[in-house]
Amino acid sequence: MEDNIMAIVMAAGKGTRMKSKKSKLVQKLFGKEIVKRAVENAEKAGVKDIIAVVGYMKEEVMAVLGDSVKYAYQDEMLGTGHAVIKAKEYLKGKKGKVLVLNGDVPLIRPETLNKLLEKSIENKEYATLLTAIYDNPTGYGRIVRDEGGNIEAIVEEKDTTPSQKEIKEINAGIYCFDIEELLSALEKVTPNNAQGEYYLTDVIQIMNEKGLKTGAVIVEDNTEILGINDRIQLEMLTKVLQMRINTEHMKNGVTIEDVNNTYIYDEVEIGMDTVIHPNTTIKSGVVIGEDCEIGPNAYIREGCKLANKVKIGNFVEIKKALIGEGTKVPHFIYLGDCEVGEKCNIGCGTITCNYDGFHKSKTIIGNHSFIGSNTNLVAPVTIGDETFIAAGSTITEDVPDYALAIARQRQINKEEWNKK
Ligand code: UD1
Ligand code: CA
Repeated sequence: MEDNIMAIVMAAGKGTRMKSKKSKLVQKLFGKEIVKRAVENAEKAGVKDIIAVVGYMKEEVMAVLGDSVKYAYQDEMLGTGHAVIKAKEYLKGKKGKVLVLNGDVPLIRPETLNKLLEKSIENKEYATLLTAIYDNPTGYGRIVRDEGGNIEAIVEEKDTTPSQKEIKEINAGIYCFDIEELLSALEKVTPNNAQGEYYLTDVIQIMNEKGLKTGAVIVEDNTEILGINDRIQLEMLTKVLQMRINTEHMKNGVTIEDVNNTYIYDEVEIGMDTVIHPNTTIKSGVVIGEDCEIGPNAYIREGCKLANKVKIGNFVEIKKALIGEGTKVPHFIYLGDCEVGEKCNIGCGTITCNYDGFHKSKTIIGNHSFIGSNTNLVAPVTIGDETFIAAGSTITEDVPDYALAIARQRQINKEEWNKK
């Protein structure tokens, strides 16, 4: 029986190639910090006891992770083995398994972490690594296997012999260890290598020498283990994530006309038969019903909830908007902090004036109301059911049910004026 399942996320490194004033681990990847994604992957795999090893710009990293993890501190960056030793006080005296994750590898699937855990438990392995086969393995640690296919060691790029350089199987930087044997092996790691660092990867050879069984899981989807070191990789992983999310929605019955130009962030719900036109951005937490039509060029921001059969057209931005069934918001509209009822029509150019420079205020619109083009709704304001707002109105007062509201100056025609 395994009693503990813990995780360590290594998040102390500097990341100089990002060329940033911030730690690379707090750079946002598709709206969420890289290190937060790494921690959430462990959480989604069911791990509750997570330790982040922080060092370089630790305040920043800790501000992002908050109390979702415990912290260990690495003041000098002496390598990944050294980083894990810093979490020793949390591991001491415990039995079970610990997942060790690189903080800069954010796209690992929780199912893959579980596979690693399961294999390590079933096969009674003291170390189980995640590996991948790369056409271009440059920069990664190589997996050295013996004739029987057993892993002998991991050799870092800078320490490889010419023949080891040819090895295409690489170390993903994601591991599952037996807690007690990991601690014991870490005691034996030395910095006798090209970089003068304490390598976590040396633990494998140390365990092998002790006769402890080790093994590996080869990842099926190579994109899961991509690391982020610079802005180019940041963009690359953004594309991978975008495609992963879009594919999931399509599998669930959503039509996406142009997957390359549709930006749906994590944790968005979209109902069946909804169509998303190009250049649409939908932020995290948004809920969209069935048979809706969104875009092109729509921006659906945080806090929006759309019922079924809603139409959001081109150049429309909505934020914290609850929109009722069958309502149309067709073009050039801003709706923020509002509740709109069923089967309304919001005319072109309508905006909610929700911000007075200090506070955000709310606009409420009842069912079956018609908001004429170019209306300003100065919040807080409530528009009743079945109302009609004349085009060009600036509405500052509530409008009762069934009313027609006109709030603009009457037109004056000065005859012959332009002849003078
Ligand atoms: C590491 C592996 C390599 C693997 C690769 C996969 C080692 C020795 N090598 O190399 O085999 O192929 O990941 O991506 O582990 N960190 C600390 N403290 C340190 C050093 C690093 O917290 O003192 C953190 C970094 O912030 C990062 C992670 O550990 O999140 C990995 O460190 P990095 O320097 O990127 O290791 P790689 O050279 O990529
Ligand atoms: Ca790395």
